[in-house]
Amino acid sequence: MKALDGVRILDMTHVQSGPTCTQLLAWFGADVIKVERPGSGDATRGQLRDIPDVDSLYFTMLNHNKRSVTLNTKLDAGKDIFTRLIVECDVLVENFAPGALDRMGFSWERIQEINPRIIYASVKGFGPGPYEDFKVYENVAQCTGGGASTTGFDDGPPTVSGAQIGDSGTGLHLALGIVTALFQRERSGRGQRVECAMQDGVLNLCRVKLRDQQRLAHGPLTEYPQYPNGTFGDATPRAGNASGGGQPGWIVKCKGWENDLDAYIYIITQAAAFDGLARTIGHADWLEDPEWNTPEARLPKLDRMYDEIEAWTKTKTKFEVMEILNPRNVPCGPVLSMKELSEEPSLRATGTVVQVDHPERGPYLTVGNPIKLSDSPTDVRRSPLLGEHTDEVLQAVLGLDAAAIAAAKESGAV
Ligand code: COA
Repeated sequence: MKALDGVRILDMTHVQSGPTCTQLLAWFGADVIKVERPGSGDATRGQLRDIPDVDSLYFTMLNHNKRSVTLNTKLDAGKDIFTRLIVECDVLVENFAPGALDRMGFSWERIQEINPRIIYASVKGFGPGPYEDFKVYENVAQCTGGGASTTGFDDGPPTVSGAQIGDSGTGLHLALGIVTALFQRERSGRGQRVECAMQDGVLNLCRVKLRDQQRLAHGPLTEYPQYPNGTFGDATPRAGNASGGGQPGWIVKCKGWENDLDAYIYIITQAAAFDGLARTIGHADWLEDPEWNTPEARLPKLDRMYDEIEAWTKTKTKFEVMEILNPRNVPCGPVLSMKELSEEPSLRATGTVVQVDHPERGPYLTVGNPIKLSDSPTDVRRSPLLGEHTDEVLQAVLGLDAAAIAAAKESGAV
């Protein structure tokens, strides 16, 4: 048995944010019925294709464990089928441009009329306000949610992150909203509206930067590289690779850095482990020296301290550094490339990286479910072909007979 067995999701999502959410729910056992426009389907099926005429990795990696139904929800016959699906489902999820579902005739009021128990969940770029009607993609959200302004180096431009905090991050937020609403429905008997704005999701993930904005009013941010020699303006600056917490941290070069772009390691110089770190890098002298032997004394010269650490790390590979420093309680993390992550045996063993077989593209790698439930293990199944389950769903979920299915096809609705 899976945690969400018996929960049926009407999945009107596309691109990344919405599909991330419904993929998670499918991995927890929900029956996710993805509704796609006949002929084309989710636009990502055709985006960034690596093999001609085959669903892209963009699509396959975001739509595992779902069923695909084609349905034109702008035609009357399609609206009729969509209405019947709303009756049969527990959750409707969508991430169209603002107002798209309303324009099809499915406002929240109408959806509630059709099924008062349904949970109607949406991702939009912005919440109510001046930008609410705007379309939004990942990097727009990173820029408008505080991510770009606070990422990068202070002498460089705002920078977006490779982590898809706007899309996948908001999808995660939405999934939590949905299961929470399902939990409340157990007691109230009613569905509800769940809304996540990408700007809000990014800002939530940048919470510590709003913390720093308020700390600025009381003096410089001493853990930032601008302290003590640089200048602070009136907004949280970009912190380079400084640690966001109370312990200093930075990225340093390791052996081979001249030819390997990822021969780096992150090292946190927490006070409790400074003794071990200083001895390891050949600086036992620091332990007796008041210029170095307290966190306060080191703070104004973290750049010099990391230069000394780097002089040592450059003589070792990033994996050797990790093996030497971890037993000495120095938190550190090698910069792992996507190649290294995809080949890492322990990630394969836990199902975090999974090989999946696809009838048209053959085997490919994907990221499995990062959330591990002891009583609801995830089994990753390939994404559906466009409309692969249309007949099956119309028959088994809506009870349509062969003649009704043929008529729906004839009308162009499916
Ligand atoms: N049958 C008939 N029409 C369908 C349909 C179906 N099964 N599925 C979608 N459509 C229609 C929509 O109703 C819409 O029509 P309308 O413009 O007449 O209302 C149209 O297809 C296009 O949808 P839209 O959402 O506007 O797609 P887009 O490609 O122009 O914009 C986004 C894409 C992602 C920018 C936009 O959907 C958006 O801002 N979404 C919210 C934020 C978000 O999730 N962004 C991140 C995506 S990873």
